[in-house]
Amino acid sequence: MLVRDLMSAPAVTCGTDATLSKAAETMRGAEIGSLVVTHEGKVAGILTERDLLRAAAAGVDPVTDAVGLWMTANPDALGPEEDAAAAWASLTHHHYRHLPVVDGEDLIGVVSIRDLFGAASLRPAGEHAADAPRGLEGVVVATTTVGDVRGREGFYHYRQYSAVDLAAARSFEDVWYLLFNAELPDRTQAEAFGAEVRSMRALPPGLADLLPAIARAGSPLDVLRTSVSLFGSELGWKPVSDGDLETVRSEALALCAAVPTILATAYRIRNGLEPVAPRDDLSFASNYLWMMTGTEPDPAYARAIDQYLIIATDHGFNASTFTARVITSTQADLAAAICGAIGALSGPLHGGAPSRALDMLDAIGTPENAEPWLRRAVENNERLMGFGHRVYKTEDPRSKFLRQVAQDLGGSLVGYAMEVEKTAVRVLAELKPGRELYTNVEFYAGVVMNSCGVPREMFTPTFAAARTIGWSVNVLEQMADNRLIRPTARYIGPPPPQPVPPA
Ligand code: ACO
Repeated sequence: MLVRDLMSAPAVTCGTDATLSKAAETMRGAEIGSLVVTHEGKVAGILTERDLLRAAAAGVDPVTDAVGLWMTANPDALGPEEDAAAAWASLTHHHYRHLPVVDGEDLIGVVSIRDLFGAASLRPAGEHAADAPRGLEGVVVATTTVGDVRGREGFYHYRQYSAVDLAAARSFEDVWYLLFNAELPDRTQAEAFGAEVRSMRALPPGLADLLPAIARAGSPLDVLRTSVSLFGSELGWKPVSDGDLETVRSEALALCAAVPTILATAYRIRNGLEPVAPRDDLSFASNYLWMMTGTEPDPAYARAIDQYLIIATDHGFNASTFTARVITSTQADLAAAICGAIGALSGPLHGGAPSRALDMLDAIGTPENAEPWLRRAVENNERLMGFGHRVYKTEDPRSKFLRQVAQDLGGSLVGYAMEVEKTAVRVLAELKPGRELYTNVEFYAGVVMNSCGVPREMFTPTFAAARTIGWSVNVLEQMADNRLIRPTARYIGPPPPQPVPPA
Protein backbone atom coordinates (compact mmCIF):
# COMPACT_ATOMS: atom_id res chain seq x y z
CA MET A 1 0.00 0.00 0.00
CA LEU A 2 1.30 3.46 -0.94
CA VAL A 3 1.05 6.74 0.94
CA ARG A 4 -1.29 7.91 -1.82
CA ASP A 5 -3.73 5.10 -0.90
CA LEU A 6 -3.88 5.77 2.79
CA MET A 7 -3.55 9.57 3.13
CA SER A 8 -6.48 11.83 3.99
CA ALA A 9 -7.07 14.39 1.27
CA PRO A 10 -7.36 17.27 0.85
CA ALA A 11 -5.30 18.40 3.83
CA VAL A 12 -6.97 20.87 6.20
CA THR A 13 -4.81 23.99 6.27
CA CYS A 14 -4.43 27.47 7.71
CA GLY A 15 -2.10 30.36 6.99
CA THR A 16 0.91 31.36 9.11
CA ASP A 17 -0.86 34.55 10.16
CA ALA A 18 -4.06 32.82 11.34
CA THR A 19 -4.66 33.20 15.09
CA LEU A 20 -4.33 30.24 17.44
CA SER A 21 -8.02 30.46 18.38
CA LYS A 22 -9.04 30.36 14.69
CA ALA A 23 -6.75 27.35 14.16
CA ALA A 24 -8.20 25.56 17.20
CA GLU A 25 -11.71 26.21 15.94
CA THR A 26 -10.81 24.77 12.51
CA MET A 27 -9.34 21.64 14.10
CA ARG A 28 -12.40 21.14 16.28
CA GLY A 29 -14.76 21.63 13.32
CA ALA A 30 -12.89 19.08 11.20
CA GLU A 31 -12.38 16.68 14.18
CA ILE A 32 -8.66 16.45 13.54
CA GLY A 33 -5.56 16.90 15.68
CA SER A 34 -3.38 19.04 13.40
CA LEU A 35 -3.36 21.61 10.60
CA VAL A 36 -0.85 21.98 7.81
CA VAL A 37 0.29 25.59 7.84
CA THR A 38 0.85 27.11 4.41
CA HIS A 39 2.51 30.27 3.16
CA GLU A 40 2.09 31.38 -0.45
CA GLY A 41 0.70 27.95 -1.35
CA LYS A 42 3.64 26.01 0.03
CA VAL A 43 3.97 23.95 3.25
CA ALA A 44 5.47 26.17 5.91
CA GLY A 45 4.82 24.07 9.01
CA ILE A 46 2.46 21.87 10.96
CA LEU A 47 0.42 22.92 13.99
CA THR A 48 -0.72 20.18 16.33
CA GLU A 49 -2.86 19.96 19.46
CA ARG A 50 0.41 19.61 21.35
CA ASP A 51 1.52 23.05 20.04
CA LEU A 52 -1.76 24.58 21.18
CA LEU A 53 -1.20 23.13 24.66
CA ARG A 54 2.33 24.54 24.74
CA ALA A 55 0.97 27.98 23.83
CA ALA A 56 -1.77 27.76 26.45
CA ALA A 57 0.78 26.73 29.11
CA ALA A 58 2.89 29.76 28.17
CA GLY A 59 -0.11 31.99 28.86
CA VAL A 60 -0.29 33.62 25.41
CA ASP A 61 -3.44 35.23 24.11
CA PRO A 62 -4.82 32.83 21.47
CA VAL A 63 -6.97 35.55 19.95
CA THR A 64 -3.94 37.63 19.01
CA ASP A 65 -0.98 35.21 18.75
CA ALA A 66 -0.36 33.87 15.25
CA VAL A 67 0.04 30.23 14.26
CA GLY A 68 3.43 30.96 12.68
CA LEU A 69 4.91 31.56 16.15
CA TRP A 70 3.89 28.15 17.52
CA MET A 71 3.95 25.74 14.56
CA THR A 72 6.74 23.22 13.84
CA ALA A 73 8.40 24.83 10.83
CA ASN A 74 9.62 22.88 7.80
CA PRO A 75 8.13 19.56 8.90
CA ASP A 76 9.19 16.23 7.44
CA ALA A 77 6.94 15.29 4.54
CA LEU A 78 6.07 12.12 2.65
CA GLY A 79 5.84 11.57 -1.07
CA PRO A 80 2.70 9.95 -2.52
CA GLU A 81 4.64 7.01 -3.99
CA GLU A 82 6.37 6.02 -0.74
CA ASP A 83 5.03 2.84 0.77
CA ALA A 84 2.96 2.58 3.93
CA ALA A 85 5.86 1.05 5.87
CA ALA A 86 7.92 4.22 5.25
CA ALA A 87 5.06 6.34 6.56
CA TRP A 88 4.81 4.11 9.64
CA ALA A 89 8.57 4.30 10.26
CA SER A 90 8.62 8.07 9.86
CA LEU A 91 5.68 8.65 12.19
CA THR A 92 6.78 6.27 14.92
CA HIS A 93 10.49 7.10 14.79
CA HIS A 94 9.90 10.81 15.40
CA HIS A 95 6.77 10.32 17.55
CA TYR A 96 4.82 12.36 14.99
CA ARG A 97 1.09 11.84 14.69
CA HIS A 98 0.64 13.59 11.33
CA LEU A 99 2.83 14.17 8.27
CA PRO A 100 1.98 16.27 5.21
CA VAL A 101 2.15 14.56 1.80
CA VAL A 102 3.67 16.67 -0.95
CA ASP A 103 3.95 16.01 -4.64
CA GLY A 104 6.79 18.19 -5.83
CA GLU A 105 5.88 21.41 -4.01
CA ASP A 106 2.14 20.78 -3.90
CA LEU A 107 0.45 19.78 -0.68
CA ILE A 108 -1.88 16.91 -1.59
CA GLY A 109 -2.84 15.34 1.73
CA VAL A 110 -1.92 14.27 5.26
CA VAL A 111 -1.06 10.88 6.70
CA SER A 112 -1.95 10.38 10.35
CA ILE A 113 -1.59 7.50 12.80
CA ARG A 114 -5.36 7.13 12.42
CA ASP A 115 -4.96 6.51 8.67
CA LEU A 116 -2.39 3.81 9.38
CA PHE A 117 -4.63 2.12 11.95
CA GLY A 118 -7.47 2.21 9.43
CA ALA A 119 -5.29 0.64 6.72
CA ALA A 120 -4.11 -2.08 9.13
CA SER A 121 -7.71 -2.70 10.27
CA LEU A 122 -6.52 -1.84 13.76
CA ARG A 123 -8.60 0.25 16.06
CA PRO A 124 -7.35 2.82 18.53
CA ALA A 125 -7.05 1.63 22.11
CA GLY A 126 -10.20 2.44 24.01
CA GLU A 127 -12.50 1.60 21.13
CA HIS A 128 -11.66 -2.06 21.72
CA ALA A 129 -10.88 -3.82 24.95
CA ALA A 130 -7.89 -6.15 24.90
CA ASP A 131 -8.37 -9.35 22.94
CA ALA A 132 -9.41 -12.25 25.17
CA PRO A 133 -7.47 -15.50 24.77
CA ARG A 134 -8.97 -18.16 22.52
CA GLY A 135 -11.72 -20.05 24.29
CA LEU A 136 -11.79 -17.28 26.95
CA GLU A 137 -9.29 -19.36 28.90
CA GLY A 138 -8.59 -17.85 32.31
CA VAL A 139 -10.77 -14.77 31.71
CA VAL A 140 -12.86 -13.69 34.69
CA VAL A 141 -16.25 -12.60 33.33
CA ALA A 142 -18.37 -12.36 36.48
CA THR A 143 -18.39 -12.59 40.22
CA THR A 144 -20.27 -15.42 41.89
CA THR A 145 -21.12 -16.84 45.29
CA VAL A 146 -22.23 -20.21 43.89
CA GLY A 147 -18.82 -21.88 43.87
CA ASP A 148 -15.46 -22.11 42.14
CA VAL A 149 -12.86 -24.46 40.67
CA ARG A 150 -9.18 -24.23 41.60
CA GLY A 151 -7.49 -26.09 38.81
CA ARG A 152 -3.93 -26.21 40.12
CA GLU A 153 -5.05 -27.47 43.51
CA GLY A 154 -7.52 -30.03 42.14
CA PHE A 155 -10.24 -28.51 44.32
CA TYR A 156 -13.76 -27.21 43.75
CA HIS A 157 -16.50 -26.06 46.04
CA TYR A 158 -20.19 -25.24 46.32
CA ARG A 159 -20.68 -22.10 48.37
CA GLN A 160 -18.10 -22.44 51.18
CA TYR A 161 -17.91 -26.24 51.22
CA SER A 162 -15.69 -28.65 49.32
CA ALA A 163 -17.96 -30.43 46.82
CA VAL A 164 -16.14 -33.69 47.50
CA ASP A 165 -16.68 -33.35 51.26
CA LEU A 166 -20.35 -32.69 50.59
CA ALA A 167 -20.58 -35.81 48.41
CA ALA A 168 -19.00 -37.86 51.20
CA ALA A 169 -21.20 -36.52 53.97
CA ARG A 170 -24.52 -35.19 52.72
CA SER A 171 -27.44 -36.12 50.46
CA PHE A 172 -28.12 -34.71 47.01
CA GLU A 173 -31.21 -32.94 48.37
CA ASP A 174 -29.09 -31.22 51.07
CA VAL A 175 -26.68 -29.98 48.40
CA TRP A 176 -29.60 -28.81 46.29
CA TYR A 177 -30.86 -26.87 49.33
CA LEU A 178 -27.37 -25.44 49.90
CA LEU A 179 -27.14 -24.15 46.36
CA PHE A 180 -30.61 -22.61 46.39
CA ASN A 181 -30.40 -21.15 49.91
CA ALA A 182 -26.67 -20.52 50.40
CA GLU A 183 -26.69 -22.61 53.61
CA LEU A 184 -26.96 -26.27 54.50
CA PRO A 185 -30.31 -27.28 55.97
CA ASP A 186 -30.78 -28.45 59.54
CA ARG A 187 -32.85 -31.61 60.04
CA THR A 188 -36.22 -29.79 60.06
CA GLN A 189 -35.36 -27.71 57.01
CA ALA A 190 -34.12 -30.80 55.17
CA GLU A 191 -37.37 -32.66 55.85
CA ALA A 192 -39.52 -29.72 54.75
CA PHE A 193 -37.45 -29.19 51.60
CA GLY A 194 -37.46 -32.91 50.79
CA ALA A 195 -41.25 -33.03 51.09
CA GLU A 196 -41.61 -29.89 48.95
CA VAL A 197 -39.48 -31.14 46.05
CA ARG A 198 -40.88 -34.70 46.20
CA SER A 199 -44.35 -33.23 45.68
CA MET A 200 -43.21 -31.65 42.38
CA ARG A 201 -42.18 -34.80 40.52
CA ALA A 202 -45.27 -35.39 38.37
CA LEU A 203 -45.28 -33.97 34.84
CA PRO A 204 -47.78 -31.26 33.91
CA PRO A 205 -50.60 -32.96 31.96
CA GLY A 206 -49.92 -31.26 28.62
CA LEU A 207 -46.29 -32.41 28.60
CA ALA A 208 -47.26 -35.92 29.81
CA ASP A 209 -49.66 -36.16 26.85
CA LEU A 210 -47.03 -35.00 24.35
CA LEU A 211 -44.11 -37.06 25.63
CA PRO A 212 -45.05 -40.30 23.79
CA ALA A 213 -44.99 -38.33 20.53
CA ILE A 214 -41.60 -36.72 21.09
CA ALA A 215 -39.79 -39.44 23.09
CA ARG A 216 -38.46 -41.13 19.98
CA ALA A 217 -37.84 -37.94 18.02
CA GLY A 218 -34.14 -37.63 18.82
CA SER A 219 -31.50 -38.42 21.42
CA PRO A 220 -32.59 -38.36 25.09
CA LEU A 221 -30.98 -34.92 25.44
CA ASP A 222 -32.94 -33.65 22.41
CA VAL A 223 -36.09 -34.93 24.07
CA LEU A 224 -35.15 -33.26 27.34
CA ARG A 225 -34.52 -29.95 25.57
CA THR A 226 -37.86 -30.04 23.82
CA SER A 227 -39.60 -31.13 27.03
CA VAL A 228 -38.08 -28.29 29.05
CA SER A 229 -39.34 -25.89 26.41
CA LEU A 230 -42.84 -27.35 26.61
CA PHE A 231 -42.69 -27.46 30.41
CA GLY A 232 -41.99 -23.72 30.54
CA SER A 233 -44.65 -22.76 28.05
CA GLU A 234 -47.30 -25.01 29.63
CA LEU A 235 -46.63 -23.43 33.03
CA GLY A 236 -46.70 -19.94 31.52
CA TRP A 237 -43.12 -18.93 32.34
CA LYS A 238 -42.44 -15.34 31.46
CA PRO A 239 -39.28 -13.49 30.42
CA VAL A 240 -37.20 -12.97 33.54
CA SER A 241 -37.69 -9.20 33.40
CA ASP A 242 -41.34 -9.87 34.23
CA GLY A 243 -40.60 -12.29 37.03
CA ASP A 244 -39.26 -11.50 40.44
CA LEU A 245 -36.53 -13.74 41.83
CA GLU A 246 -39.00 -15.67 44.02
CA THR A 247 -41.14 -16.59 40.99
CA VAL A 248 -38.17 -17.82 38.99
CA ARG A 249 -36.81 -19.67 42.03
CA SER A 250 -40.14 -21.58 42.31
CA GLU A 251 -40.06 -22.32 38.57
CA ALA A 252 -36.52 -23.64 38.92
CA LEU A 253 -37.40 -25.88 41.87
CA ALA A 254 -40.29 -27.35 39.87
CA LEU A 255 -38.08 -27.98 36.85
CA CYS A 256 -35.23 -29.56 38.84
CA ALA A 257 -37.74 -31.88 40.51
CA ALA A 258 -39.39 -32.89 37.22
CA VAL A 259 -36.31 -33.45 35.01
CA PRO A 260 -35.75 -37.05 36.23
CA THR A 261 -39.41 -37.83 35.47
CA ILE A 262 -39.05 -36.43 31.94
CA LEU A 263 -35.87 -38.46 31.38
CA ALA A 264 -37.09 -41.76 32.82
CA THR A 265 -40.51 -41.54 31.16
CA ALA A 266 -39.01 -40.77 27.76
CA TYR A 267 -36.41 -43.52 28.21
CA ARG A 268 -39.09 -46.14 28.90
CA ILE A 269 -41.28 -44.99 26.01
CA ARG A 270 -38.26 -45.07 23.63
CA ASN A 271 -37.55 -48.61 24.69
CA GLY A 272 -41.16 -49.82 24.39
CA LEU A 273 -41.74 -49.97 28.15
CA GLU A 274 -44.64 -48.63 30.19
CA PRO A 275 -43.68 -45.41 32.04
CA VAL A 276 -43.31 -45.79 35.78
CA ALA A 277 -44.88 -43.03 37.88
CA PRO A 278 -42.64 -41.13 40.34
CA ARG A 279 -42.90 -42.04 44.03
CA ASP A 280 -42.86 -39.50 46.81
CA ASP A 281 -41.37 -41.84 49.41
CA LEU A 282 -37.98 -42.20 47.68
CA SER A 283 -34.95 -39.93 47.49
CA PHE A 284 -34.17 -38.09 44.26
CA ALA A 285 -31.61 -40.73 43.22
CA SER A 286 -33.68 -43.78 44.27
CA ASN A 287 -36.77 -42.44 42.58
CA TYR A 288 -34.81 -41.76 39.38
CA LEU A 289 -33.53 -45.35 39.26
CA TRP A 290 -37.00 -46.62 40.18
CA MET A 291 -38.67 -44.70 37.34
CA MET A 292 -36.05 -45.84 34.84
CA THR A 293 -35.79 -49.52 35.76
CA GLY A 294 -39.16 -50.21 37.40
CA THR A 295 -37.49 -51.81 40.42
CA GLU A 296 -36.52 -50.32 43.73
CA PRO A 297 -32.74 -49.90 43.63
CA ASP A 298 -30.16 -51.52 45.85
CA PRO A 299 -29.34 -48.82 48.48
CA ALA A 300 -25.66 -49.00 47.47
CA TYR A 301 -26.55 -48.12 43.88
CA ALA A 302 -28.92 -45.38 45.00
CA ARG A 303 -26.21 -43.84 47.18
CA ALA A 304 -23.61 -44.11 44.42
CA ILE A 305 -25.92 -42.25 42.01
CA ASP A 306 -26.75 -39.76 44.77
CA GLN A 307 -23.02 -39.09 45.17
CA TYR A 308 -22.48 -38.84 41.41
CA LEU A 309 -25.30 -36.28 41.21
CA ILE A 310 -23.69 -34.21 44.00
CA ILE A 311 -20.34 -34.32 42.24
CA ALA A 312 -21.95 -33.16 38.98
CA THR A 313 -24.29 -30.45 40.34
CA ASP A 314 -22.16 -27.44 39.50
CA HIS A 315 -18.66 -26.62 38.31
CA GLY A 316 -17.73 -22.99 37.90
CA PHE A 317 -18.17 -21.10 34.63
CA ASN A 318 -18.19 -24.14 32.35
CA ALA A 319 -19.61 -23.85 28.82
CA SER A 320 -23.22 -24.82 29.65
CA THR A 321 -23.42 -22.62 32.75
CA PHE A 322 -22.00 -19.68 30.83
CA THR A 323 -24.55 -20.35 28.07
CA ALA A 324 -27.38 -20.27 30.60
CA ARG A 325 -26.11 -16.99 31.99
CA VAL A 326 -25.73 -15.41 28.54
CA ILE A 327 -29.33 -16.34 27.70
CA THR A 328 -30.58 -15.06 31.06
CA SER A 329 -28.71 -11.81 30.50
CA THR A 330 -31.10 -11.12 27.59
CA GLN A 331 -34.01 -11.52 30.07
CA ALA A 332 -35.27 -14.63 28.26
CA ASP A 333 -37.22 -17.05 30.46
CA LEU A 334 -35.80 -19.89 32.54
CA ALA A 335 -36.77 -22.56 30.00
CA ALA A 336 -34.80 -20.78 27.27
CA ALA A 337 -31.70 -20.62 29.49
CA ILE A 338 -31.91 -24.30 30.45
CA CYS A 339 -32.55 -25.42 26.85
CA GLY A 340 -29.43 -23.54 25.74
CA ALA A 341 -27.42 -25.08 28.56
CA ILE A 342 -28.57 -28.59 27.61
CA GLY A 343 -27.45 -27.90 24.05
CA ALA A 344 -23.98 -26.86 25.24
CA LEU A 345 -23.72 -29.86 27.54
CA SER A 346 -24.46 -32.31 24.73
CA GLY A 347 -21.11 -31.82 22.96
CA PRO A 348 -18.30 -34.36 23.48
CA LEU A 349 -15.89 -31.65 24.67
CA HIS A 350 -18.26 -30.98 27.57
CA GLY A 351 -20.89 -33.39 28.93
CA GLY A 352 -21.14 -35.76 26.01
CA ALA A 353 -18.07 -37.78 27.01
CA PRO A 354 -19.07 -40.47 29.57
CA SER A 355 -20.78 -42.83 27.13
CA ARG A 356 -17.93 -42.23 24.68
CA ALA A 357 -15.41 -43.05 27.42
CA LEU A 358 -17.16 -46.38 27.93
CA ASP A 359 -17.26 -46.91 24.15
CA MET A 360 -13.50 -46.37 24.21
CA LEU A 361 -13.07 -49.01 26.94
CA ASP A 362 -15.13 -51.39 24.81
CA ALA A 363 -13.05 -50.63 21.72
CA ILE A 364 -9.77 -51.22 23.59
CA GLY A 365 -11.16 -54.54 24.81
CA THR A 366 -8.29 -55.82 26.96
CA PRO A 367 -5.66 -54.25 29.24
CA GLU A 368 -2.95 -55.57 26.91
CA ASN A 369 -4.43 -53.72 23.98
CA ALA A 370 -4.53 -50.40 25.89
CA GLU A 371 -1.00 -49.26 25.07
CA PRO A 372 -1.10 -49.76 21.26
CA TRP A 373 -4.71 -48.58 20.98
CA LEU A 374 -4.20 -45.38 23.00
CA ARG A 375 -0.85 -44.63 21.37
CA ARG A 376 -2.35 -44.92 17.90
CA ALA A 377 -5.33 -42.74 18.87
CA VAL A 378 -3.17 -39.94 20.28
CA GLU A 379 -0.74 -40.17 17.36
CA ASN A 380 -3.74 -39.77 15.05
CA ASN A 381 -4.69 -36.61 16.95
CA GLU A 382 -7.80 -38.18 18.43
CA ARG A 383 -9.04 -37.11 21.85
CA LEU A 384 -9.19 -39.73 24.59
CA MET A 385 -12.65 -39.34 26.03
CA GLY A 386 -12.72 -38.67 29.76
CA PHE A 387 -9.21 -37.18 29.77
CA GLY A 388 -8.04 -33.57 29.92
CA HIS A 389 -9.69 -30.49 31.32
CA ARG A 390 -9.59 -26.76 30.65
CA VAL A 391 -9.13 -25.85 34.30
CA TYR A 392 -7.66 -28.90 36.04
CA LYS A 393 -3.96 -29.30 35.40
CA THR A 394 -3.79 -31.98 38.02
CA GLU A 395 -6.08 -34.88 38.84
CA ASP A 396 -9.74 -33.88 38.65
CA PRO A 397 -11.10 -34.29 42.22
CA ARG A 398 -14.36 -35.57 40.76
CA SER A 399 -12.54 -38.35 38.96
CA LYS A 400 -10.66 -39.31 42.13
CA PHE A 401 -13.90 -39.41 44.12
CA LEU A 402 -15.81 -41.40 41.52
CA ARG A 403 -12.94 -43.85 41.11
CA GLN A 404 -13.35 -44.69 44.80
CA VAL A 405 -17.15 -44.93 44.43
CA ALA A 406 -16.65 -47.30 41.50
CA GLN A 407 -14.15 -49.36 43.50
CA ASP A 408 -16.57 -49.59 46.42
CA LEU A 409 -19.28 -50.82 44.05
CA GLY A 410 -16.88 -53.45 42.72
CA GLY A 411 -17.22 -55.40 39.51
CA SER A 412 -14.75 -56.24 36.77
CA LEU A 413 -15.12 -52.98 34.82
CA VAL A 414 -13.51 -50.76 37.45
CA GLY A 415 -10.26 -52.74 37.61
CA TYR A 416 -9.98 -52.70 33.83
CA ALA A 417 -10.80 -48.97 33.70
CA MET A 418 -8.05 -48.26 36.22
CA GLU A 419 -5.54 -50.18 34.10
CA VAL A 420 -6.55 -48.19 31.01
CA GLU A 421 -6.36 -44.94 32.99
CA LYS A 422 -2.80 -45.70 34.11
CA THR A 423 -1.71 -46.50 30.57
CA ALA A 424 -3.49 -43.47 29.09
CA VAL A 425 -1.93 -41.03 31.56
CA ARG A 426 1.49 -42.48 30.71
CA VAL A 427 0.89 -42.34 26.94
CA LEU A 428 -0.45 -38.78 27.13
CA ALA A 429 2.52 -37.64 29.23
CA GLU A 430 4.85 -39.11 26.61
CA LEU A 431 3.06 -37.96 23.45
CA LYS A 432 1.60 -34.70 24.78
CA PRO A 433 4.32 -33.58 27.19
CA GLY A 434 3.55 -30.55 29.32
CA ARG A 435 -0.21 -30.66 28.65
CA GLU A 436 -0.95 -32.23 32.04
CA LEU A 437 -3.71 -34.57 30.95
CA TYR A 438 -5.47 -36.76 33.51
CA THR A 439 -8.92 -38.29 33.81
CA ASN A 440 -11.77 -35.84 34.15
CA VAL A 441 -15.20 -36.38 35.75
CA GLU A 442 -16.51 -38.26 32.73
CA PHE A 443 -14.21 -41.29 32.81
CA TYR A 444 -15.41 -42.83 36.08
CA ALA A 445 -18.90 -41.29 35.78
CA GLY A 446 -19.58 -43.82 33.02
CA VAL A 447 -18.13 -46.65 35.11
CA VAL A 448 -20.24 -45.73 38.18
CA MET A 449 -23.46 -45.29 36.20
CA ASN A 450 -22.87 -48.49 34.33
CA SER A 451 -22.33 -50.39 37.59
CA CYS A 452 -25.61 -49.00 38.96
CA GLY A 453 -27.62 -50.09 35.93
CA VAL A 454 -28.00 -46.69 34.25
CA PRO A 455 -28.09 -47.36 30.49
CA ARG A 456 -25.35 -45.73 28.42
CA GLU A 457 -27.73 -43.47 26.49
CA MET A 458 -28.78 -41.98 29.85
CA PHE A 459 -25.30 -41.01 31.09
CA THR A 460 -25.26 -37.43 29.83
CA PRO A 461 -28.99 -36.95 30.54
CA THR A 462 -28.31 -38.00 34.16
CA PHE A 463 -25.51 -35.43 34.25
CA ALA A 464 -28.05 -32.87 32.98
CA ALA A 465 -30.49 -33.81 35.78
CA ALA A 466 -27.85 -32.85 38.36
CA ARG A 467 -26.59 -29.81 36.46
CA THR A 468 -30.09 -28.33 36.08
CA ILE A 469 -29.65 -27.29 39.70
CA GLY A 470 -26.31 -25.58 39.03
CA TRP A 471 -27.68 -23.88 35.93
CA SER A 472 -30.76 -22.67 37.80
CA VAL A 473 -28.77 -21.13 40.63
CA ASN A 474 -26.57 -19.38 38.09
CA VAL A 475 -29.67 -18.06 36.31
CA LEU A 476 -30.94 -16.66 39.61
CA GLU A 477 -27.56 -15.08 40.34
CA GLN A 478 -27.40 -13.55 36.85
CA MET A 479 -30.92 -12.15 37.26
CA ALA A 480 -30.11 -10.60 40.60
CA ASP A 481 -27.36 -8.41 39.12
CA ASN A 482 -27.85 -8.47 35.38
CA ARG A 483 -26.13 -6.71 32.54
CA LEU A 484 -26.52 -7.92 28.95
CA ILE A 485 -23.54 -10.15 28.08
CA ARG A 486 -22.44 -8.90 24.70
CA PRO A 487 -18.76 -9.09 23.81
CA THR A 488 -17.21 -8.13 20.46
CA ALA A 489 -15.15 -9.93 17.84
CA ARG A 490 -12.21 -8.64 15.83
CA TYR A 491 -13.10 -8.52 12.12
CA ILE A 492 -10.36 -10.13 10.03
CA GLY A 493 -12.10 -10.47 6.65
CA PRO A 494 -11.43 -8.40 3.49
CA PRO A 495 -11.23 -4.68 4.39
CA PRO A 496 -14.62 -2.97 4.15
CA PRO A 497 -16.23 -1.05 2.59
CA GLN A 498 -15.59 -2.60 -0.81
CA PRO A 499 -17.73 -1.29 -3.69
CA VAL A 500 -20.80 -3.51 -4.05
CA PRO A 501 -20.67 -5.01 -7.56
CA PRO A 502 -23.77 -4.40 -9.62
CA ALA A 503 -26.23 -7.32 -9.70
N1 ACO B 1 -6.76 -36.64 24.45
C1 ACO B 1 -5.65 -36.33 23.72
N2 ACO B 1 -5.12 -35.10 23.70
C2 ACO B 1 -5.72 -34.15 24.42
C3 ACO B 1 -6.85 -34.42 25.21
C4 ACO B 1 -7.37 -35.73 25.20
N3 ACO B 1 -8.45 -36.05 25.91
N4 ACO B 1 -7.24 -33.29 25.81
C5 ACO B 1 -6.39 -32.33 25.43
N5 ACO B 1 -5.46 -32.86 24.60
C6 ACO B 1 -4.33 -32.17 23.99
C7 ACO B 1 -4.76 -31.46 22.73
O1 ACO B 1 -4.64 -32.28 21.61
C8 ACO B 1 -3.82 -30.28 22.69
O2 ACO B 1 -2.59 -30.75 22.18
P1 ACO B 1 -1.70 -29.80 21.23
O3 ACO B 1 -1.11 -28.78 22.15
O4 ACO B 1 -0.71 -30.74 20.65
O5 ACO B 1 -2.62 -29.19 20.21
C9 ACO B 1 -3.60 -29.95 24.18
O6 ACO B 1 -3.88 -31.16 24.89
C10 ACO B 1 -4.51 -28.86 24.69
O7 ACO B 1 -5.84 -29.15 24.27
P2 ACO B 1 -6.98 -28.06 24.20
O8 ACO B 1 -8.08 -28.57 23.34
O9 ACO B 1 -6.42 -26.72 23.91
O10 ACO B 1 -7.42 -28.02 25.72
P3 ACO B 1 -8.79 -27.46 26.24
O11 ACO B 1 -8.56 -26.91 27.58
O12 ACO B 1 -9.42 -26.54 25.26
O13 ACO B 1 -9.68 -28.80 26.26
C11 ACO B 1 -11.10 -30.58 26.81
C12 ACO B 1 -10.33 -29.35 27.35
C13 ACO B 1 -12.08 -30.10 25.73
C14 ACO B 1 -11.91 -31.18 27.94
C15 ACO B 1 -10.12 -31.60 26.22
O14 ACO B 1 -9.23 -32.02 27.23
C16 ACO B 1 -10.80 -32.78 25.57
O15 ACO B 1 -11.14 -32.72 24.40
N6 ACO B 1 -11.03 -33.91 26.31
C17 ACO B 1 -11.71 -35.04 25.75
C18 ACO B 1 -13.23 -34.87 25.84
C19 ACO B 1 -13.73 -34.93 27.26
O16 ACO B 1 -13.28 -35.74 28.08
N7 ACO B 1 -14.73 -34.07 27.54
C20 ACO B 1 -15.31 -33.96 28.90
C21 ACO B 1 -14.76 -32.75 29.60
S1 ACO B 1 -15.28 -32.70 31.28
C22 ACO B 1 -16.74 -31.79 31.26
O17 ACO B 1 -16.90 -30.86 30.54
C23 ACO B 1 -17.81 -32.16 32.16
